[in-house]
Amino acid sequence: MSIPEFSLATEAYAAGSITVVPVRQGDPVEVLAGTDLGLTEERLAALDVSGKAGATQRLLASAGSAPEAPVLLIGIGEHRTPEALRRAAGTAARALRSEEAVVYDLADAGAEEVEALALGHALGGYRFDRFKSGQDEESAAPEQQRVSVLAEGRAAALERARVLADAVHFTRDLINTPPNELVPESFADHIAAEFRDGPVSVEVWDEAKLIEEGCGGIAGVGQGSANPPRLVRLEYAPEGAERHVGLVGKGITFDSGGLSLKPAASMVGMKFDMSGAASVAGVIRAVAALGLPVRVSGWCALAENLPSANALKPDDVITMRSKTTVEVTNTDAEGRLVLGDALALASEAAPDVIVDIATLTGAQVVALGDRTTGLMGNEEAWRDRVLAAAERAGEPTWAMPIPEEIKERLTSPVADIVNAKPGDRSGGMLFAAAFLERFIGEDGDGAIPWIHLDIAGPADTKSAYGYVPQGATGVPVRTLVETIAALNG
Ligand code: BES
Ligand code: MN
Ligand code: ZN
Repeated sequence: MSIPEFSLATEAYAAGSITVVPVRQGDPVEVLAGTDLGLTEERLAALDVSGKAGATQRLLASAGSAPEAPVLLIGIGEHRTPEALRRAAGTAARALRSEEAVVYDLADAGAEEVEALALGHALGGYRFDRFKSGQDEESAAPEQQRVSVLAEGRAAALERARVLADAVHFTRDLINTPPNELVPESFADHIAAEFRDGPVSVEVWDEAKLIEEGCGGIAGVGQGSANPPRLVRLEYAPEGAERHVGLVGKGITFDSGGLSLKPAASMVGMKFDMSGAASVAGVIRAVAALGLPVRVSGWCALAENLPSANALKPDDVITMRSKTTVEVTNTDAEGRLVLGDALALASEAAPDVIVDIATLTGAQVVALGDRTTGLMGNEEAWRDRVLAAAERAGEPTWAMPIPEEIKERLTSPVADIVNAKPGDRSGGMLFAAAFLERFIGEDGDGAIPWIHLDIAGPADTKSAYGYVPQGATGVPVRTLVETIAALNG
């Protein structure tokens, strides 16, 4: 579904539209409309309106000259926060999919609140229907909904919501695209086409170039597939930018495990294994559209991990871009191999910080569940910046350590390091981070600050909640846009 057409409303109750009114939980329940709806405490009690987050009620209310205006009450829980409003609007969007026009009526909505309502509505209403033949009910929804928010002078907030929704939708579309359609080459072509006419430059390395440049990790993981690997480099460098952020994304367009083949059930959903790379592209799309005065470079490491006569084998030793040699003990630990090269390339550009994003380990899901991102890294100030941005964005993120004793387990009897420790699953998320850290280069002051985001769990969801639809979530695009936006001040 496309992004709604946003506008500011001067009237909350217009013919042909439905009005959404946030309701706060408490004693008494508080209807947060700016317009008097004549909703007495008795009527609210009779309707069983609780204000509980996610609770919805449709009713007809009298509002000024409109005696029977259609209204959707939507609970926001106990606190009127931007995140509560985003979630409520996301739920409202799904409930109101077939409506042509929706108006949000929230009393005295501030800029952040206007943005939250619009963004939550756009994100919650997202649906990936490119492969739907149009025979289901939902396909009857209008092509583009009109969504307005009752407020004055908040056009900038709506525009920011539109840009963020566009970037998250772009990322979700890439992730949701099936792996027969999206292979490394078509991924790279799509990115190149999307950024063609803007301020972002795109450079693509094919397999021959990857080998020539010594990227043994990306080339190695990709060699088992008939669809060869690619590296996509994105560059947004506004004039006068003082800060430089490097983004690195894992882009495995399908992860079968390779010769260390996954069991059938664990393979389903592995089209999501390029979520990190899709997020890198989404963040840069938003940063460029917002015109943020920060240089952002992206590296998307794209490969398809399949078994074949040419595939990487357990026991192979490969040489990475950094010249580090890796004994491949498990071809299913492929993400760290492609990222190792991309992190080395990012390090060569010596940005102020490198942030990598990857659906890296099943251990991440075991440790933090499927909604919380695992954050690791080598520097506290950047860790705290990203954690604070994640909090504002409403994308749960939790810091995890990279303990010394885990780093020691990287030792290999034949190469510099192994990519997995056979028979040892303890601290799997941390081990993977310790592996990645070996590829972070130095600038004049020691190791380049680096943040690793393991999004194996939060990259996708089996069922919708709040403003997160079923399928790809687009996590952590908004966290990173927020991190970069906050560098201005
Ligand atoms: N793409 C997977 C990680 C993953 C697992 C993401 C489940 C989402 C859900 C990754 O490439 C992988 O297979 N990791 C292995 C590493 C192991 C072989 C050391 C894992 O976590 O099992
Ligand atoms: Mn794997
Ligand atoms: Zn993988």
